[in-house]
Amino acid sequence: MLTKILAIDVGYSHVKAVSTESRILIPSIVSPYQEMVLADLSSTDTGHLVKVKKVDGTTIIYFVGELAVKEGRGATFTLDRQKHKHPNHDILVLTASRILEAQPGSTLGVGLPVAYYRTQREELIQHLMGVHGDISVNDSILRRISFGKVIVYPQGAAALITAPGLPQNGLVLLVDVGYKTTDYIVAEVVGGKVRPVSNLCGSVETGIYAVHETIALEYQNQTGMPLSVVNVPQVLSEEGKIIHYGREIDFNLTLEKIKTEIAMNIVDQVTARLGERMAFVRKAYLAGGGAKCLPVLSSMFPVTTILPNAQWANAEGILAVVKQTEEAL
Ligand SMILES: Nc1ncnc2c1ncn2[C@@H]1O[C@H](COP(=O)(O)OP(=O)(O)OP(=O)(O)O)[C@@H](O)[C@H]1O
Ligand SMILES: [Mg+2]
Repeated sequence: MLTKILAIDVGYSHVKAVSTESRILIPSIVSPYQEMVLADLSSTDTGHLVKVKKVDGTTIIYFVGELAVKEGRGATFTLDRQKHKHPNHDILVLTASRILEAQPGSTLGVGLPVAYYRTQREELIQHLMGVHGDISVNDSILRRISFGKVIVYPQGAAALITAPGLPQNGLVLLVDVGYKTTDYIVAEVVGGKVRPVSNLCGSVETGIYAVHETIALEYQNQTGMPLSVVNVPQVLSEEGKIIHYGREIDFNLTLEKIKTEIAMNIVDQVTARLGERMAFVRKAYLAGGGAKCLPVLSSMFPVTTILPNAQWANAEGILAVVKQTEEAL
């Protein structure tokens, strides 16, 4: 069955896309199609071979996600703060929408950091309303993807919708630890309704990328060989230890040190911004894939909770908003 509504959180490291029926996580890496790949293209575990047929009849093929990582020439986003201007953005949106079986003219929900919400919202809506194409993923039939309506919602505020035990009234803080950026929002809850306090919201330009970069450097120091940052998760998947030509290299000390540094940096910057308002925060929540990676952050406040689906929280919150809006019609 085709879906009419979906929400997509295009992150610097992963795209989180959800519909009422299913969800998909895709590494935000796209590379041009290469003839010489021996991967099993039919398995979604290894990534996605994506065909995009434009209205003028031209077809372009891409590797998206794990396949692009393996292929080695994958490009992630630049540090550009306007993600949607990067060509990979639209390919990722189209790929995620096709995998979630979006029907033509479906309603799409997306997020923007609170700091950019006012200035970029209209432009992002216009941009996404213009995104379309006939898409096939891993040899599925070409299906038209287009959006009949686009809803933009502030990130963080969206994640808070999924927060368990939200107080009925008072200030709450949410810190979304991402790959390149860590967003924080302070919201005033009034009768259960969440209202971001925009002058207490912002972004810290740090995240899990800093961990990966440090490990890549350490790898180079220890082995004399460079390691691309996109390959760091593979190195870390073996409990922080790897074998290099028979010698074990243990990254755990380096990991612990850099994680503490990043966590302290986040806490310092958020605390400085909140000033004395920090004392009035009733509850703090951690979201984003980085929440689990930086457990030190849990001791930030006396009452800190990691959201149950931390990495998915924004996408799920946005989907809830889209559902509500559609039902109200
Ligand atoms: N359980 C986990 N333990 C450790 N790290 C994790 C876990 N889950 C996800 N991560 C890592 O957390 C990082 C941030 O993930 P997330 O999907 O929130 O980033 P993003 O939204 O793509 O980035 P940004 O918000 O900066 O655009 C990623 O590098 C991811 O690999
Ligand atoms: Mg994010």
